[in-house]
Amino acid sequence: MRAVVIEKPGQITTTTVDDPTPGPREVVVEVSGVGICGTDLHILDGEFAPTPYPIVPGHEFAGTVAAVGSAVTELTVGDRVAVDPSLYCGECHFCGIGRGNLCERWNAIGVTKPGASAEFCLAPVANCYRLPDSVSLEHAALVEPLSCAVHGFDLLPGRVGEHYLIYGAGTMGLMMAQLARFAGAASVSVVDLNTDRLAVATGLGADATATNAGELERPEGWEVVIDCTGAVPAIEDGLSRVRRGGTFQVFGVTASDAVASFSPFHVYNNEITVVGSMAVLHSFGRAVELLAKGVIDPTVMISHRFGLDAYETAIDHFRRGSGRKLQVQPGGTA
Ligand SMILES: NC(=O)c1ccc[n+]([C@@H]2O[C@H](COP(=O)([O-])OP(=O)(O)OC[C@H]3O[C@@H](n4cnc5c(N)ncnc54)[C@H](O)[C@@H]3O)[C@@H](O)[C@H]2O)c1
Ligand SMILES: [Zn+2]
Ligand SMILES: [Zn+2]
Repeated sequence: MRAVVIEKPGQITTTTVDDPTPGPREVVVEVSGVGICGTDLHILDGEFAPTPYPIVPGHEFAGTVAAVGSAVTELTVGDRVAVDPSLYCGECHFCGIGRGNLCERWNAIGVTKPGASAEFCLAPVANCYRLPDSVSLEHAALVEPLSCAVHGFDLLPGRVGEHYLIYGAGTMGLMMAQLARFAGAASVSVVDLNTDRLAVATGLGADATATNAGELERPEGWEVVIDCTGAVPAIEDGLSRVRRGGTFQVFGVTASDAVASFSPFHVYNNEITVVGSMAVLHSFGRAVELLAKGVIDPTVMISHRFGLDAYETAIDHFRRGSGRKLQVQPGGTA
């Protein structure tokens, strides 16, 4: 089959590799679409420590079951699925307390195991979620990032009638904004330096947008502030904007050695909760249902499509920060 292979940091090719064969409880998925995200760039740039090279990238994907292992009864050839890329060991302390996303032997399809930037991809049957008829395969490649946002929401207080401030109007910030609306926010405000992206946030229902939160004229602050930029200046600013008793979520991914400064007095005196959110946890099936329910607008979220041979073009596009979710379609773009 054809596959994108990152041979080593900085070196990427589209080449022919062996077709995967399923183990007893595995399926082979014919990939219809795979989203590009920041993690793929980190892997390409050699900044993601757990990745063994060479690696086929791609962890945000959906497709059609092409073959099933000898002990698979839940799925048959032709079923349409989205795949949770998370591979937990099931045995460590964190798996034992139900927090597999923090697994001591964490692996993931497209991160440490062969991924979906290929015609076919192997997955455990337990990781495959059959799609409702109303969800297209193209849209289904958004389930993985949406399931990260749903996990982020699981870690917020989840009270209705509160005010949300979201930093970053990329795919993740826009998903968070739409989830906040759906979850009963009194208002959703979005901050980004990119005004084109802010216009998209407005189109998706944000109540207010600004390039600087100071312009939003809410001196009392917001009950929930979520960073979806991974930028230290945004994180420092956002933490200072949390209303007394409120919550700040670190969702964006900074460099592993980045340092941000904050006022401990402000956090203490205002009883602010600071909470991180990392990847997917028990949130994949709900993301399928939320997508089917129309909670996010998938047509706005996917801005560009590329064939497998144009993977490097897609990466260049992603680095320039234009568009929203870029999708690689190994079977050819529609
Ligand atoms: N926690 C998780 O599970 C998880 C999952 C997926 C992605 N992420 C992370 O979430 C972040 C957002 O992902 P994305 O795909 O939307 O990225 P993106 O690059 O498309 O969007 C980030 C946005 O932040 C804006 N921005 C940058 N600096 C800013 C600043 N100082 N103030 C205001 N806005 C600023 C950019 O203009 C951009 O629009 C990334 O850091 C990504 O790695 C986390
Ligand atoms: Zn991703
Ligand atoms: Zn584990």
